[in-house]
Amino acid sequence: MQPYYRPRRLREKEVIRDLCAETLLDYKKLIMPYFVIEGSHIDQPIESMPGVRRLSIDNLIRTLEADSAVGVRSIILFGIPHHKDEKASGAYDDNGIVQKACQEIKKHFGSTILIITDVCLCEYTSHGHCGMVIGGCIDNDSTLDLLAKTAVSHAQAGADVVAPSDMMDGRIEAIRTALDEAGFTHVPILSYAAKYASAFYGPFRDAAGSAPQFGDRRSYQMDFRNAREALKEVYLDIEEGADIVMVKPALAYLDIISLVRQSVEVPVCAYNVSGEYSMVKAASTLGFGDEARLVREIMTAIFRAGADMVISYHTVDILKNKWFD
Ligand code: PBG
Repeated sequence: MQPYYRPRRLREKEVIRDLCAETLLDYKKLIMPYFVIEGSHIDQPIESMPGVRRLSIDNLIRTLEADSAVGVRSIILFGIPHHKDEKASGAYDDNGIVQKACQEIKKHFGSTILIITDVCLCEYTSHGHCGMVIGGCIDNDSTLDLLAKTAVSHAQAGADVVAPSDMMDGRIEAIRTALDEAGFTHVPILSYAAKYASAFYGPFRDAAGSAPQFGDRRSYQMDFRNAREALKEVYLDIEEGADIVMVKPALAYLDIISLVRQSVEVPVCAYNVSGEYSMVKAASTLGFGDEARLVREIMTAIFRAGADMVISYHTVDILKNKWFD
C-alpha cells in the first residue's frame, strides 16, 4: 500500500522549502542591547555573558560605528551609573549615563540608529529594586513620578522610544501623561507589559549590577505560572497608552507571545533575555550544540510564535556571521 498524501513533496528541494516557509528572518526586526557605563576607555567583558561588554560612551560610539556598518539599526540602552542611592537619582539626572549616551549617539548617528531606552530604577537604587522602598516594601505610587521623570529626561536627551521595565501599576499612564506635558507626544512607549519574575535574568543583573539586595522581584514581576494574567497586564498597558507591548523572557514563554499576538492589534516585542543568550553560548562553547543553528532556530521560534520584533544579544553575531541569510 502506497501513501496517498505525501507532505514530503514540499520538503524535497531547498527552493521549494523556501517558497513554502511560513516564517522568514529579517535583521530589520532585531534590537541590540548595550550596557553603557560611566567613565572613559572602559571596555569590560561580562563574564556571564560571553561577547557582551560594559562600554563607556567613547567605546560605545566606536562599537556602534562597527555594528551599524554590519546592519544594527535599533538599540536598547541600559545604564550603569557611578553612584546609586535610595531615590535612584542617577535615573532621572539630565547628566546621567543614559542621557549622556543618547546625546552622543544622536550627535554621531542622527536618525540612522533608533534609540530605545530602558526606563527602570533598579540599576540606580542602592537596594537594587525597581521602585522606591518604604518600610521594607516596594512602594508603587511614589515610584511613578520618578519613572515619569526618567522617561522625560531620556526623551529630552534624544531617546526615540522609551521602554519601562519596572512593572509598577499605572506607570504607562504616568509616563504618557508626563511625556505629553513635556511636548514629547511623538515618542512611543514600548511597555515591558508581561514581564515575568525569571531566573533567566541572572546574567543581566551581573552585567548591570542590579541584583536586589534583599528579597526578590516577585511582588512586582509576574508569576510564571500565569498566562491569563499576562493578558490583563497587556490590556491595561494598551489602555494606558502603550504603543508596543513586550513579552519577557521569550523562549520559555512562546505560548504567551502567541496568546498576546492573537489578542491585541498593537505590535508585540519579545525579549530574548540574558540567560537565554548565555545558555546558547555555554552550550556551543562546550561543544553541545552549533551556535549558528541554535540561534537561527530560537529566533525563528520567537517570530513564529508571533513576535514582530525581538531584543536579542545575539543580534551582532547574527549580522556579522550572516546567520539570517
Ligand atoms: C530592568 C531590566 C532587567 C532586564 C531588562 N530590564 C532586569 C530585571 O528585571 O531584573 C533583564 C534583561 C535580561 O535578562 O537580558 N528592570
